[in-house]
Amino acid sequence: MEQTTRRVAVFGAGYIGLVTGACLAELGHTVAVRDILPERVELLQAGEVPIYEPGLGDMILRNKERLRFTLDAEDAVRGAEVAYVCVDTPPTASGDADLSRVWAVVDALKEASHLLALVVKSTVPVGTGRRIRAALDAAGLGHVGYASNPEFTAEGRAVSDFMNPDRIVIGTSDTATGDLIKGLHAGVDGPAVAMDIASAEMTKLAANAALATKITLANELATVCEATGADIEQVTAAIGMDHRIGQHFLKAGLGYGGSCFPKDSRALHALASNSGYSFQLLRTVIEVNGLQARRHLQRLKDELGGFEGRTVALLGMTFKAGTDDMREAPSTIIAARLLAEGAAVRCWDPMAQPGPGQPWDSTTRHASPLEAMAGADAAVIVTEWPELRDAPWAEVRAAMRTALLLDGRNLLDGAAMAQLGFTYMSVGRPTVRP
Ligand code: UGA
Repeated sequence: MEQTTRRVAVFGAGYIGLVTGACLAELGHTVAVRDILPERVELLQAGEVPIYEPGLGDMILRNKERLRFTLDAEDAVRGAEVAYVCVDTPPTASGDADLSRVWAVVDALKEASHLLALVVKSTVPVGTGRRIRAALDAAGLGHVGYASNPEFTAEGRAVSDFMNPDRIVIGTSDTATGDLIKGLHAGVDGPAVAMDIASAEMTKLAANAALATKITLANELATVCEATGADIEQVTAAIGMDHRIGQHFLKAGLGYGGSCFPKDSRALHALASNSGYSFQLLRTVIEVNGLQARRHLQRLKDELGGFEGRTVALLGMTFKAGTDDMREAPSTIIAARLLAEGAAVRCWDPMAQPGPGQPWDSTTRHASPLEAMAGADAAVIVTEWPELRDAPWAEVRAAMRTALLLDGRNLLDGAAMAQLGFTYMSVGRPTVRP
């Protein structure tokens, strides 16, 4: 594919929009990223990155000649050949995706007859592209191509995922637009997969449903392991060696969180329900995931003999390591449940910056794992931060009131912890006592 550099407008300066904009600039395209939040745009214009994503800040800096940020939609689109929609699509009261921000962008493009293509990266219900195509046609923009180009990057590794994807899904009804989007990715190391628009929209939801289901399978197996004395880590390591199953996304824990799996699994379930079909497997995945953190907290409560008047340390608040994102983090449920049961909650996290509000306003924040656990009756590892592997556990043992640890990520070695004097509980593995 011949390398043609394009002028691209990216709508939305969130995780997806910033990574898309920066990576397209890195590939040689000229990019204007537009967001509606003045403080966000000002920060970006001043060379600062409002989110934590490894490699993103450097990439933005490196490409500052080709990458700019603006509040003005008209300004972003002026001269652009391709417009990318990367705005968020939060769930509505009915569980459908709120597409108002997507439509606001489509409306803002009604005068942009010079565009060659409109590309939606935001996660949308199947059928959205068909409606946008019809709206473009009705606005006299029949010559503007349309494509669904969903995102499969994971937070914390989004830049490398974008540059080295397993596949680039391009859903469109015309070959010229398909070739244009493929050309935009020249230099990206991954195969392009062409398909129709609805299938591309479905592929995004299906991929996240498959991954959420795989995690939930591991969590369900872990529960049976707990009841039978088997060890989930040994079981998943061995089943994962079967290439048909694979090692990835089989890590048992306190349930998946983040801005994608919970939202997208509910969105796919709602999409099925809207046609009168109950997607039972996905409904179970959602339900099991919602119970996961609560169930393990109950195990801890039973071990401790109640939470009333106790002090519990929460180690990790973000939904996974390597990000500052706290959206749908299991830590929020755990903190709220502990407070509701009358416990005092002491937190540690190297990145999290929860805004004002509950449950975090009623907890205390500490500079190190040791400080958070000093004087505590129990501690819960919620996020797999590497710092926790290397925490001074012997010192922690001496500083805790009761040496009780629930390792919600199976990060530590149970036998070693018991030797240090801990009662060590984990997910899907036998509890080990001193
Ligand atoms: C996820 C997908 O991995 C991306 O492919 C997708 O593009 C993205 O959603 C999206 O739709 O935008 P992300 O939410 O950043 O990415 O995070 P993951 O690394 O997938 O983790 C999601 C949750 O599952 C985390 O809470 C993580 O701790 C949990 N998880 C993951 C497990 O409990 N076990 C595992 O084996 C893997």
